[in-house]
Amino acid sequence: MSVLIKGGRVITTADDYVGDVYVEGETVSLIGESLDVDADKVIDASGKYVLPGLVDPHTHLDMPFGGTTTIDDVESGQIAAAFGGTTCHVDFIIQPQGSSFADAFEDWRGKADGKQVIDMGYHMAVTDLREGGSLEELASLPDQGITSYKLFMAYKGALMVDDETLFKTMEVAAETGALVMVHAENGDAIDVLVKKALAEGKTEPKYHALTRPPETEGEATNRAIQLAHVAGCALYVVHVSCQESVEPIALAREKGWNVFGETCTQYFFVDYTFLERPNFEGAKYVYTPPPRDKANQDVLWAAVRNDVLSAISTDHCAFLWDGQKSLGKDDFSKIPNGGPGLENRLHMIHEFGVRQGRIGLNRMVELLATNPAKLFGLYPKKGTVAVGSDADIVVFDPSKKHTITAASQHSKTDYNLYEGTEVTGSPETVLLRGSVLVEGGELVAEPGIGQFVKRARFGQQLTAVEAAA
Ligand code: URP
Ligand code: ZN
Ligand code: ZN
Repeated sequence: MSVLIKGGRVITTADDYVGDVYVEGETVSLIGESLDVDADKVIDASGKYVLPGLVDPHTHLDMPFGGTTTIDDVESGQIAAAFGGTTCHVDFIIQPQGSSFADAFEDWRGKADGKQVIDMGYHMAVTDLREGGSLEELASLPDQGITSYKLFMAYKGALMVDDETLFKTMEVAAETGALVMVHAENGDAIDVLVKKALAEGKTEPKYHALTRPPETEGEATNRAIQLAHVAGCALYVVHVSCQESVEPIALAREKGWNVFGETCTQYFFVDYTFLERPNFEGAKYVYTPPPRDKANQDVLWAAVRNDVLSAISTDHCAFLWDGQKSLGKDDFSKIPNGGPGLENRLHMIHEFGVRQGRIGLNRMVELLATNPAKLFGLYPKKGTVAVGSDADIVVFDPSKKHTITAASQHSKTDYNLYEGTEVTGSPETVLLRGSVLVEGGELVAEPGIGQFVKRARFGQQLTAVEAAA
């Protein structure tokens, strides 16, 4: 199968030009002006942007959490992603306590079996190095294409690890070339604050934020940075939400340390006051770290502009408001933590980042596709439009108006964080490795087309040969 994408404005991190992109099989084979080639399918992209398929480095599909399981499984989550222009994501395997990493990996692969619509890789969330996985087993994961270890410094009594486990994992990463990711919050201090609030009868959703002050995020971020420096590994801080954690990341990067951070779409748009919405509406915005005071939104825009933060993910972790979030109707600490977002990252960042002049188009591509691909060992297979790269391509119509609503979304959840937001600019056609996934508002590919991608180690490139091995 060959596809010619004609006359679009091709935008990568480095370039912005009008040209033709010719796809043969699964990869881009030629880029040029007015290409004279035969193609099985021609897409007229004049007046449109031709973007690399987006890479989301932080999602949770089919994950047991908070006394329930996320409503989006691999199929529904990836369909939502495809409609939003995301063609590859990295999801989290959560090691059940007492279980080996191999068993956890097998379990997570089973959940994706036959359901994949886009390509995906995995991070390994380490929860237990005593009874479960060993350091040796952890060290073997990069050979299987799992080249990042994630540690939760919060969720005491559930996923949280102590500093010993954190540091030992960092030491393994320094040896194996894996990237360490941290959910940075001081879980012990938060646990004290949550218990105190509940004892005082403070049960509404807003206490989710009031018991997780930004200093608890800043402290844990700094602790992880210092420990990673001692261990000698590279560090990636997930879902940075506030100035208190931006600052230590900025300082480490100024010193030239291998420290990176991401924020997520929602932190630019949802602030603390959303949690105060009446009739339990606030529960829709219970995710962690919590929505912060509005002043942090400008801090985050500056941080993504100035390369203090390197990526924007979704942390898609969707629950139903009616039936799952309601588990915490009388106790905010029982509301499953997480929010949806896979479908709207490009809509929102294009509208409020690019169209409103906060970042340029090249930087948008870098934050949503190229940097996630580079940091997580997917580049140049993923994350750019270039000869030899996978033909994961989004033809984006910058003038198409779209209103974001739960009623029209593809995620299975019953609400949308950005309900009613009107944007100008929307993905029109989405290709995965040369096959059309989305066209004319329809999913045209069948589940099963997506693949597991074995990722390269931090700082290394993923060649087609390695990916096929
Ligand atoms: O609230 C969130 N973010 N849920 C997903 C798990 C995590 O902490 O990333
Ligand atoms: Zn987290
Ligand atoms: Zn997450």
